[in-house]
Amino acid sequence: MYEKIALVTGSNRGIGFAVAKGLLLKGHKVIVTSRKEIDGRKAVKYLSVFGDVDYHTLDVSDDESIRQLKEYIEKEYSQLDILVNNAGINYDTWQTALNADLDEVHETIETNVFGPWKMIKAFLPMMKKNKYGRIVNVSSGSGAMNEMGAGTPGYSISKTALNVLTIKFAHEVNGNDILINSVCPGWVKTDMGGASAPRTPEEGAETIIWLAELEDPNLNGKFFRDKKIIEW
Ligand SMILES: NC(=O)c1ccc[n+]([C@@H]2O[C@H](COP(=O)([O-])OP(=O)(O)OC[C@H]3O[C@@H](n4cnc5c(N)ncnc54)[C@H](OP(=O)(O)O)[C@@H]3O)[C@@H](O)[C@H]2O)c1
Repeated sequence: MYEKIALVTGSNRGIGFAVAKGLLLKGHKVIVTSRKEIDGRKAVKYLSVFGDVDYHTLDVSDDESIRQLKEYIEKEYSQLDILVNNAGINYDTWQTALNADLDEVHETIETNVFGPWKMIKAFLPMMKKNKYGRIVNVSSGSGAMNEMGAGTPGYSISKTALNVLTIKFAHEVNGNDILINSVCPGWVKTDMGGASAPRTPEEGAETIIWLAELEDPNLNGKFFRDKKIIEW
């Protein structure tokens, strides 16, 4: 029997895949999700040796996709204990605020901000009803106001906005044993992070997994890196 039911967005590769693996190794049931079913099924085939895996397609920028996932989880489990909003796009190192392609920025915000926002709107009521929930928003130091430079305007703004969402929702959980936090995984060797990044996906996943199992009720609406609170 599994401990908790967890869902990780964008868990077919990168940090999301490592989070799914880590949560399985801790005894949780993990619902792996991916935009393309073929990618997700491949991940599930690999991950199933580590524990109890389920699968559903999910594109966080598609309302109908979120609706179908919610309907499936309500019908199959009537609960979701852990939600990891990991899916993210467009680390736009090639532009600054002045020369930014705003259509691209729009697309980034759609996935990196409205995606998690819609996911939380879909699943927080279920968590409140069950009086338990851990929501982890995978953000970035690029979204920290105190670390910002000129580059990655769309990405940085999207992650700052995601951090604001963390704070807003942290005020809406009303106890209920629900905790919502943001995390920077560090610079991680993935398709997004590139080959020069110093951290493995497993290292990047560590604090995310720790937050997914957090016990301390005071740690709500905060921003973490390496299991320590950092500045917004
Ligand atoms: N890598 C780093 O150094 C680093 C540093 C700080 C923060 N982060 C954050 O960590 C998270 C994971 O990054 P990563 O490095 O693992 O990136 P990645 O290797 O590029 O993987 C991104 C994942 O998100 C999925 N995704 C993208 N758009 C989606 C959508 N609309 N709906 C559902 N899934 C979607 C991708 O699916 P497809 O396979 O279909 O594209 C993929 O599974 C992101 O939020 C990123 O901003 C990463």
